[in-house]
Amino acid sequence: MLDLFAAAPPNVRRARLEEYHHYLVERDGEMNLDERTLSRREVSMKKYERPPRAIRNMDSDEFRRQYLKFEAGKALPSELVLLLALVKVNAAESYGVARNFQRTLGRALKTENDSELRILCEECYHTRILLSSANHYGIEARHPYHPPSALRIMIGGIATAPMALARPLTLAGEIIATLMFIKLLNVTQRVLAGDPETRDAILERIEEICTDERGHISFNRMHMGAGELAQTRVILPVAARILSRAFPELAVLGAYPVNVLSDLPLLCDPKHLPASVRQQSFIA
Ligand SMILES: [Fe+2]
Ligand SMILES: [Fe+2]
Repeated sequence: MLDLFAAAPPNVRRARLEEYHHYLVERDGEMNLDERTLSRREVSMKKYERPPRAIRNMDSDEFRRQYLKFEAGKALPSELVLLLALVKVNAAESYGVARNFQRTLGRALKTENDSELRILCEECYHTRILLSSANHYGIEARHPYHPPSALRIMIGGIATAPMALARPLTLAGEIIATLMFIKLLNVTQRVLAGDPETRDAILERIEEICTDERGHISFNRMHMGAGELAQTRVILPVAARILSRAFPELAVLGAYPVNVLSDLPLLCDPKHLPASVRQQSFIA
């Protein structure tokens, strides 16, 4: 099982980052920075954004109400809570992309390596992929959710912190996000068990995101030495506690990693992951 907090020697880290860059080019195709698009991902987006054959019933008024202000104590259908979780879970990453883009661009120009920009573009796709889940309910969700203040503060901290602190914070955020997605796979299996077509369409989306996210974790890890990784381990449970209130829909579904350290095997032990994620993700 992968130990997320074990540092690799510098020469291994450099070589793995090089491999990751090739992996990204192969997976994503050409990057258009002005549009923040990736040619291969545009192709797969078409599939997700196409209206599905069958639309499932959902109370769209209740959905809108809960989207604006989620009532964790109210008895709501699990399917409605799942859709809320899907369209809101990427709020932080989407906001983070906007906050971090210029800084990342500056760094990429200096180092002549565009992997980090590609990662930001992938995050834009995650938002689109997740929003497209609403198609299955005939509900339109076009814009990313505006994240609550706890998240905005953490993201603002990452955007302005010195890199020595920004990296551990970013890695902690990527780990927490990936665990949420892995847990959402299980929730989707359970909640949509009665409709295999919709279930598989949602699972495909989440699996694609989990595959990318394992790469993002690897990328951040390979930039860090033993000290920064030890720092990440300390930050992780604190960050998970602070952020727990920012994802009430996930908490209701049991998809929030409350005990983040004991949940780590979900992402480090391949036996917990679907075959597509195991086979396609870049792990280092
Ligand atoms: Fe993401
Ligand atoms: Fe990510």
